[in-house]
Amino acid sequence: MSTVPRRGFFKQAAAAGVGLAANSWLGRALHAMTPPPDPARVIVDSTRRVADLDRHLFGSFIEHLGRSVYGGIYEPDSKFADANGFRKDVLEEIRTLGVPIVRYPGGNFVSGYNWLDGVGPKKNRPRVLDRAWNTLETNQFGINEYVTWCRAVGTEPLIGTNFGTATPEMTLALLEYCNVEKGTKWSDLRREHGYEKPHNIKYWCLGNEMDGPWQIGHIPAREYGIKARDAAQQMRGLDPSVKLIACGSSNTQMPTYLEWDQQTLEQCYEEVDAISLHRYYGNDMETGGDSRMYLAMNLDMDRQIEEIISVCDLVRGRKRSPKTLWLSFDEWNVWYRARSGKDVDGDRKVAPHLLEEIYNLEDALLVGGLINTLLRRANRVHVACLAQLVNVIAPIMTNEDGLVRQTIYYPYAWALKYAHGSVLELGAEIETYEVSHGPRAEMPGGFEAYGASRIGHVPYVDVAGTIDDQGKTATLFLLNRDLDKARELEVVWHDITPSRVVDCQVLTGSDLKAVNSFDAPKRVVPQPLEPPKVSSRMTFKLPPHSHTLVSVAI
Ligand code: AHR
Repeated sequence: MSTVPRRGFFKQAAAAGVGLAANSWLGRALHAMTPPPDPARVIVDSTRRVADLDRHLFGSFIEHLGRSVYGGIYEPDSKFADANGFRKDVLEEIRTLGVPIVRYPGGNFVSGYNWLDGVGPKKNRPRVLDRAWNTLETNQFGINEYVTWCRAVGTEPLIGTNFGTATPEMTLALLEYCNVEKGTKWSDLRREHGYEKPHNIKYWCLGNEMDGPWQIGHIPAREYGIKARDAAQQMRGLDPSVKLIACGSSNTQMPTYLEWDQQTLEQCYEEVDAISLHRYYGNDMETGGDSRMYLAMNLDMDRQIEEIISVCDLVRGRKRSPKTLWLSFDEWNVWYRARSGKDVDGDRKVAPHLLEEIYNLEDALLVGGLINTLLRRANRVHVACLAQLVNVIAPIMTNEDGLVRQTIYYPYAWALKYAHGSVLELGAEIETYEVSHGPRAEMPGGFEAYGASRIGHVPYVDVAGTIDDQGKTATLFLLNRDLDKARELEVVWHDITPSRVVDCQVLTGSDLKAVNSFDAPKRVVPQPLEPPKVSSRMTFKLPPHSHTLVSVAI
């Protein structure tokens, strides 16, 4: 593995992510100017916007897996439990964060799940062996508890359906149970269970990772597409307002990557609204442990989004369809340590410790970069879920005495708090380095890892921003990937001048591998950063390997 350091010049239009077309507005302006300015420069023009921000971009995910549900959000025996058995400390944390949408109940779990086991009187619910994670499922928490929890938290439900062992009839029964008011077999059963009003669930995933050989009920793409079309047609017949997400490729390393998506959409394009993307990142096989490469991996997410958009639009063209699909990036995060052996085998226990990844500073920096990518792609990505929310590859960890915020909590919390309104199409001139000669490693399952190796030029500073006309603020998210050097960045406010800095914080530290724990919960937390004086040109000094938030009043 080797990287070839090279002094380069990155010109970025935020919507393009990794390049700038010479014929774009900024391209014409900047192509005349070489080499890159020192300091690097970002130009904010308030009239240049990628899209209005769909807040569902900052969703998350709870699966019946490990201690995510039991011991995470639901723990009737805990000193924190409310009357419903929900952990009040976790509920309050998530409500305050403002997580807008939460996917449930899986994940791999859903492909063997019978939702009927989780409704009705709790004492009658069966204890079932979940084959996805080899775990004992008590079914004390099911669809109704989930919806009640969502309402208490103030988040929108997003339900994954079983396309593995379940029949379309059971999927339809679930939709009828949730969304029909009364007078039918399944809606009346819900009312019998004590839920008079329908749940009115809008967002539905048609299965989970059905392209994966590990998935219960995995089938070829064409077959899945036909099944999805049939289910979607019936679901819409029952409730025309539902938003339906077809299963896309479960990561970019799959041998069927893009082919799966195309073949699936050839069958169900007209019946669905969106296709899903999943991806987990790690600083091991794909990067050879090189943190310079690792911090560039959000550009691979940019690429993945671009590629899936191309497939969607190819199928649209072939079908002469007027409809454009949106994307649901409904599983993304860092996950590479707690990924094998005991970390993924529940040993037939209830709520075992599974996938309890401990996140460090560099993971948080990459998560900041991944959020920047999602923002830049907000014109097509309307839903995205940080996977997951509590205890399982999660920003929040619990024990019997409380909770701790992992490092990745902070960039996520910033996005939730500060990204509002519209996403800005930023122009940037930033020096680059190269990671084009990354390792190609064998992944579990015989796949070849190439993630970082296809990225190429990487700007030292990754930028994204939003503008909120109502709140009268503009916010920038600035990831400095330079491991060793502080980087200066001049922000040029083209047509607006900030009146004051509302907030300026930085997440950094001397040790890229530093983590938070119950004993030391504040080792990696944001610190105030001294902003420059407000004016139409403001130069920020971004510390080495740091992620910075700047919010200004306009
Ligand atoms: O989020 C953990 C697992 O990762 C999910 O169950 C599955 O969909 C993915 O492979």
